[in-house]
Amino acid sequence: MADTRRQKKNRLTAGNADRHLLYEASVQVVDADINFVRRVYRNARARVPLRMREDFCGTAMLATEWVKSNQNHEAWGVDLDPEVLEWARAHRFEAMGDAARRMHLIEGDVMTARIPPVDIVVAFNFSYCIFKQRAALRTYFESVLAGLDKDGILVLDLFGGTDSFSTLEEDRYISGDRGPDGRTIPPFTYEWEHARFNPITNELLCHIHFKFKDGTRMRNAFTYDWRLWTIPELRELLEEAGFSASLVYTHGWDEDEESDGIYRKKMAFKNEESWLAYIVGVK
Ligand SMILES: C[S@@+](CC[C@H](N)C(=O)[O-])C[C@H]1O[C@@H](n2cnc3c(N)ncnc32)[C@H](O)[C@@H]1O
Repeated sequence: MADTRRQKKNRLTAGNADRHLLYEASVQVVDADINFVRRVYRNARARVPLRMREDFCGTAMLATEWVKSNQNHEAWGVDLDPEVLEWARAHRFEAMGDAARRMHLIEGDVMTARIPPVDIVVAFNFSYCIFKQRAALRTYFESVLAGLDKDGILVLDLFGGTDSFSTLEEDRYISGDRGPDGRTIPPFTYEWEHARFNPITNELLCHIHFKFKDGTRMRNAFTYDWRLWTIPELRELLEEAGFSASLVYTHGWDEDEESDGIYRKKMAFKNEESWLAYIVGVK
């Protein structure tokens, strides 16, 4: 009886789900991101990076994991939205203990936030795609360059492939997880939708929905109004902004034709239905 009551209490439904918790469990793989940026920085600079800035940080999962992974690490997370920063404080800071002192949350615009120079700036989950004009994205890259230490790098991620520049809907079953404060996340389904694509501007309207075992659905939990940039456009803008070089890393494929999660530097790769890449700007 008690067990049944507990199961009911834990049941995930559109009415009680925490969209930030589900977002993190669905789309963020921060250990892999951190290993990648550390490796790329070490290869480029032959020393270890210590200070990181996570632009568009949302709930600051990456920045806080950076701080927790080494006692010499310090991080700044920048986001316009006070709600996500408050979520990060409420769900992360207590569990971080003393490390929380090395984690700084800045409520502000990535274009103008004033932060000490860092080794690495990351802008992940395609967030910079809110800038739809070349001039705006170039200005953002210029402001990142100015905020980097003399050896600094900027790391962006990007998705692409033949399916990307069109409407689509895809589902992924998430088998359950644990949140930053230890909360259990029961299984649910993550849905990614390209609702509208305009080939004249490459503007792409995307939504995230979540579907639950009880048949309820949290529709438009997140919406993104983006321009989907291409690798050559990003590299040209990095160069125009003053970066000395830009590097492209993509994953390989396993026997099931899924990403193998191993990112290597490439000068060319075969286009597929859908791929992910990291673009690195070197100061
Ligand atoms: C897609 S979420 C990214 C969350 C996280 N970085 C990740 O990797 O999943 C985009 C975030 O960017 C923030 N944002 C949008 N425009 C911004 C701006 N100009 N300056 C700072 N944050 C911004 C939004 O509030 C939102 O939390």
